[in-house]
Amino acid sequence: MEHNLALDIVKVTEAAAIAAARHMGEGDGERADQAAVTAMREALSGLAIRGRVVIGEGERDEAPMLYIGEEVGNGDGFAVDIAVDPVEGTNLVAKGLPNAIALLAVSERGGILHAPDIYMEKLIVPPQAAGKVDLRWTPERNLQVLAHSLRRKISEITVVILDRPRHADLIAAVRRAGARIKLISDGDVAPAISAAVSGPGVHAVMGIGGAPEGVLAAAALRCLGGEIQARFWYRNDAERQRAREMGISDPDRIFRTAELVRGTRLVFAATGITDGDLFRGVRFFGGGIRTHSLVMTAAQGHIRFVDTIHVHDLAQVGVVRLQ
Ligand code: FBP
Repeated sequence: MEHNLALDIVKVTEAAAIAAARHMGEGDGERADQAAVTAMREALSGLAIRGRVVIGEGERDEAPMLYIGEEVGNGDGFAVDIAVDPVEGTNLVAKGLPNAIALLAVSERGGILHAPDIYMEKLIVPPQAAGKVDLRWTPERNLQVLAHSLRRKISEITVVILDRPRHADLIAAVRRAGARIKLISDGDVAPAISAAVSGPGVHAVMGIGGAPEGVLAAAALRCLGGEIQARFWYRNDAERQRAREMGISDPDRIFRTAELVRGTRLVFAATGITDGDLFRGVRFFGGGIRTHSLVMTAAQGHIRFVDTIHVHDLAQVGVVRLQ
């Protein structure tokens, strides 16, 4: 299944990224998101799957497309669960800032946690530190373990944290420990992927962000060997109730990577919308468009970076550039 789907699925994130990128810098994240949702929905309808959205744009009454429970695909083929985020980092697209991506994960039915759209406290580390850190420990202790796992000093570790007032204590603790910090305005999935690969110079992601984004990060980390530990973070009783209704029996449970996404037949795809640490953003030029994506399978261990030129008019493109 994964093998057949992987290259089809990347076309879905490519379509969403292209649609969103057309609205880069307009200052209207919602418009970019709407365009991406429509494009993703249409691309999904061409896939030979019986798909069910488990992480999507919201509940049926709040989202006309890609809502939780919506059936997608052409109705033939494998029965799968789907997690989507057509634009991860709507504000980033609105402002033309780095690291906005389009995301999709597909697994056999029951393989992706149905997470409510609330917050989650997250700790994300690279493969070398997987199984060694603990969300219940202080940031200082986790950073010591991480530094040891990576054979470097804490001062040579960079932690990504969403720049939010709720993270004042966390930021102070990470500074006290001596690690470097990258404060980001939005989008904690791209840094989660960056933390699991060598090169972007990100070694951990810490703090509270969206739970759906936590599940999508888990799908990527399952394919790359990194780890996420996460626990729901409730702002009020209504959110606790909502989690209970969605089947979260222990509200304070710490979820590990394979508990957020336990599917074995798992495919994950992401396409850059704006330029970022992992991907070039969508590039428009006369006669065509170029996209840069990542598509991975968990069981087969295929990690593909896909550089696609979408040719609309070969004569106008003239000559294809290597990169
Ligand atoms: P969008 O849904 O607008 O794309 O925002 C994504 C995001 O920045 C996530 O990456 C992050 O987990 C979450 O929002 C943080 O939420 P908040 O902005 O409410 O702190």
